[in-house]
Amino acid sequence: MRIVPVELGKNSYDIYIGNGLEQQIRDFCQQACFSGKGLIVTDTNVGPIYGQWLQDLLQQAGLQVEVYEVPAGESSKSMQMAEKLFTKCIETGMDRKSPVFALGGGVVGDLAGFVAASYMRGVPFVQVPTSLLAQVDSSVGGKVAVNHPLGKNLIGAFYQPKAVFMDLNTLQTLPKREIYTGLGEIIKYGIIYDARFFQYLEDNIEQVASLANEAAAHMTARSCEIKADVVSQDEKELGLRAILNFGHTAAHAIEKNTGYTKYNHGEAVAIGMVCAAYISKALGMIDQSVVDRVISLILKLHLPIKAQGCTVEDLYRDIFHDKKTVGGKVKWILMESIGQVCGNSNVPEEIVKGAMQKIV
Ligand SMILES: NC(=O)c1ccc[n+]([C@@H]2O[C@H](COP(=O)([O-])OP(=O)(O)OC[C@H]3O[C@@H](n4cnc5c(N)ncnc54)[C@H](O)[C@@H]3O)[C@@H](O)[C@H]2O)c1
Ligand SMILES: [Zn+2]
Repeated sequence: MRIVPVELGKNSYDIYIGNGLEQQIRDFCQQACFSGKGLIVTDTNVGPIYGQWLQDLLQQAGLQVEVYEVPAGESSKSMQMAEKLFTKCIETGMDRKSPVFALGGGVVGDLAGFVAASYMRGVPFVQVPTSLLAQVDSSVGGKVAVNHPLGKNLIGAFYQPKAVFMDLNTLQTLPKREIYTGLGEIIKYGIIYDARFFQYLEDNIEQVASLANEAAAHMTARSCEIKADVVSQDEKELGLRAILNFGHTAAHAIEKNTGYTKYNHGEAVAIGMVCAAYISKALGMIDQSVVDRVISLILKLHLPIKAQGCTVEDLYRDIFHDKKTVGGKVKWILMESIGQVCGNSNVPEEIVKGAMQKIV
């Protein structure tokens, strides 16, 4: 079992990573000053497999928690669903110290976190992420949100959990495609922060792609350390945290242009990282051999490098609609090498379009 601390002053918390975290979950809940009633938010895929397991554990720790299953999928990250959960919280008599547990992928984590942040101006929140993407990305950093019909993640808050429990055993039931989507974000951490980690992924392709035990533990822990390191230097996304956006500028445009259905998030990020690598090369920041390493690792981990059905014009238009675009300027996170990135808000249009041409 590994513990990754997230240092955020009075909002600090620990991430527990390992196979079988029953004891840690029980001990934590017994020591936390929670009141007796709580809520587990999960979805219709994860609830039937793990809902009872968590409910029993919490009961052993003296908590009476109800399980609320939302339909699996992005459409549950809505104000309507949040309202149903608020109603549930009120009906079950939850008070200011009643914990909300998120048991599932990033959808459940973002939704349950939003509810925890808002109900009674904030109740304790605990994450039990079960998808690889949620373990290495969405459950760390404290961003919680629901979608609005006019855009993703537009209604939300920064709200840190009290603890995060990543039980690697839950990954055994995760569909292959969801594993690869998590690997997209894992590759990103190597590129933005840690050349050795990138090399580790290159050298251990089979174990990485199959989430072999040691590899899964190492990748999850290292990704969380990197994200925690970045977030603790910039909790509210005023500066450094922008590097986590590497690959995401083009990815968001790709997701939007393909109706959020053709590519899932990690797949779009993989293509977006190739786009950012090409821009970096066109600006003379890296040479082709570095672009080739990025592409080769992405392909070996079963992720796409081209956005089928997208056009350069559409993608270019949509990068200006990104939530992170400020004052009409797109801040690209670009590569100086593997392991080192920097921001650039002045990339000429023809360079961006030239790179986009290579990914459509
Ligand atoms: N808050 C953040 O910082 C942040 C960062 C990245 C992404 N996100 C959000 O995360 C969401 C995507 O997360 P996701 O990829 O986990 O999607 P998801 O929650 O939809 O999970 C993916 C699929 O895997 C299923 N699943 C999850 N765990 C499983 C398991 N152990 N066994 C079997 N099936 C399982 C889910 O039911 C779902 O069908 C998006 O809404 C995105 O906006 C948030
Ligand atoms: Zn992402």
